[in-house]
Amino acid sequence: MIELRGVSKVYPARDGKRGSQFRAVDEVSLTIREGSVFGVVGHSGAGKSTLLRLVNYLEVPTSGAVLVDGQDLGALGERRRRAVRQSIGMVFQQFNLFRSRTVLGNVAYPLKLSGLPRAEVRARAEEALRFVGLAEHARRYPEQLSGGQRQRVGIARALATSPKVLLCDEATSALDPQTTGEVLALLQRVNSELGITIVLITHEMDVVRGICDEVAVMEDGKVVESGSVYDVFSRPEHPTTVSFVRSALHDVPDGAALERLRARHGGRLVTLPVSGDSAGTHEWSRLLRRHELDFSIAHAGVGEVQSRPLGSVTLELRGPDDAIDAFLTELAAAGKAAAA
Ligand SMILES: Nc1ncnc2c1ncn2[C@@H]1O[C@H](COP(=O)(O)OP(=O)(O)OP(=O)(O)O)[C@@H](O)[C@H]1O
Ligand SMILES: [Mg+2]
Repeated sequence: MIELRGVSKVYPARDGKRGSQFRAVDEVSLTIREGSVFGVVGHSGAGKSTLLRLVNYLEVPTSGAVLVDGQDLGALGERRRRAVRQSIGMVFQQFNLFRSRTVLGNVAYPLKLSGLPRAEVRARAEEALRFVGLAEHARRYPEQLSGGQRQRVGIARALATSPKVLLCDEATSALDPQTTGEVLALLQRVNSELGITIVLITHEMDVVRGICDEVAVMEDGKVVESGSVYDVFSRPEHPTTVSFVRSALHDVPDGAALERLRARHGGRLVTLPVSGDSAGTHEWSRLLRRHELDFSIAHAGVGEVQSRPLGSVTLELRGPDDAIDAFLTELAAAGKAAAA
């Protein structure tokens, strides 16, 4: 549905030095499948918003090509490019609603601009409001709504023009955890019931874990890692990805937690993986039995990613020292070891 080929965006640097430049997006190539929910995660300043604005040509790339639904936006004339852009909806962190317009007026606004007859504008806006569960608030003003409701208005406005793609820039970052969950559930319905491809930018890996199929990790304008959410969560490679994944899984005790565990547990600690491919778990549980080792659980962080279990457990091993040594050696040979 969306393809970026070696896309870069270079700005004049803000430090004011003449001629100095800043690469906000640096040679990014990505393919986003039709019907998928694609997450882009990265720290502040990584280039996520710039990347999103390149997808709908709000920013013109300095180099590279942006293809939407097979059409190279850079090669299209103004009229056809506008038509493609109209098939892309956008949702913002701060909702960007008109305060002086009613909820219905906000949702109807982009439809009015497109020149549809009034009756149809109204029918479509009402339908979009029904979809997001706000039909009964049509006559209210944004200020009379909660943050989560305002974001649902923002989503209804984006849906009213029947887009094929929805771009969400930190759509839940201004919301509390409960409301975040509700908005994410709504986006999931947008994807599964309406078949709309969603590109979602966030700095929270939990959001990615919640609804994305695939994810790209950005740093300094570059995509440093990408793949299916399960693969990236279970085998993160780039240090930035590793720290994002840890922040969502909480599965490995950090330095301070490990100190506390050591104080509490006198024995040897080892952190072992738990994953959807249960072979990994079987391997170390079989080894534990073979070496006749007993254990107690010091820390456990196992959750679900894309409906499959993932995480790790930290065990305090109990048994003769040489049996523990032999266990750890075999574990290391199997590539599963992470002596805590
Ligand atoms: N118009 C511009 N002129 C110069 N520099 C810009 C411009 N727009 C963005 N930048 C710079 O490009 C970099 C990437 O910005 P961008 O907004 O894409 O990051 P982001 O990943 O969305 O960050 P955040 O999580 O804070 O929203 C930043 O360092 C920013 O200062
Ligand atoms: Mg941003």
